[in-house]
Amino acid sequence: MRLVHTIAEVRREVAAWRARGETVAFVPTMGNLHAGHLDLVTEARAKADRVVASIFVNPLQFGPNEDFDRYPRTLSDDCLRLDPVGCDLVFAPSVDEMYPRGRLNLSQVAVPGISQLLEGEFRPGFFEGVATVVSILFHIVQPDVAMFGRKDFQQLMVVRRMVSDLHMPLTIVGVPTRREPDGLAMSSRNQYLSPDERSLAPGLYRALSAVAQRLRSGSRDFALLEDEARKLLEHQGFKPQYFVIRNADDLGPPAPSSRSWVLLVAAHLGRTRLIDNLEVSA
Ligand code: PAJ
Repeated sequence: MRLVHTIAEVRREVAAWRARGETVAFVPTMGNLHAGHLDLVTEARAKADRVVASIFVNPLQFGPNEDFDRYPRTLSDDCLRLDPVGCDLVFAPSVDEMYPRGRLNLSQVAVPGISQLLEGEFRPGFFEGVATVVSILFHIVQPDVAMFGRKDFQQLMVVRRMVSDLHMPLTIVGVPTRREPDGLAMSSRNQYLSPDERSLAPGLYRALSAVAQRLRSGSRDFALLEDEARKLLEHQGFKPQYFVIRNADDLGPPAPSSRSWVLLVAAHLGRTRLIDNLEVSA
């Protein structure tokens, strides 16, 4: 496995593979890798001859009061994890390498509609930052296929829409959420939790599972289910920003006739913001 920091090195390596007729899979990340990220690499390994992972904490997708400065940066540990799961190339650029003209005059990619809901409502500019960096990374790596976690369900939808709207020549694959044994979705932000908060955190997945169970057994009073789940979370010490039941295909409000839903939640536990979701079909 090779570690490189410049766009020129990525292009050279990928061009050499392409000259031999090899296909390329790509896994964009912000590093601090856990087993969920590694699932994406394992899936990538199965889909192409070569695997590229990027590690870049993207300042464009952090709001002014968010955790850009304290986001964990663990490049050498990340490389130790990526090598054994079959990654060929790690691209870990600096902010200057990615945005040499600075952030203010940068061309940006916006994906209207879907980017304004839910995460986009509570994190203005977040999906513009994600779409812009993912688009730049796709242009650098030019993969045949790229892997995204279903953990960030709305992000996966935004990326799919961008690729479709801009006719980008690659396939997007969504990989299931990897959870801790107690149900908590793995996330780099889990390590911000105090021991007490960590023991409460699986309540998020329990709330999702309880509502999923009610849907499966025929309940269709979506507003009531959402409201109960929010109250349950508050009772457990969470500060929920949203807990919603949406259509899985467009994140719109569910029609009673709809048969495939996604439950999405964002909540603070102390200072840490957690998100999770669960897909349910009737
Ligand atoms: P990051 O949070 O590092 O996540 C990188 C990828 O890993 C994303 O596709 C995310 O959905 C996936 N992932 C995270 N936790 C997961 C879990 N528990 N199970 C399965 N997959 C999981 O998401 C980003 O970075 C950034 O927004 C990025 C796409 C890299 C753009 O900067």
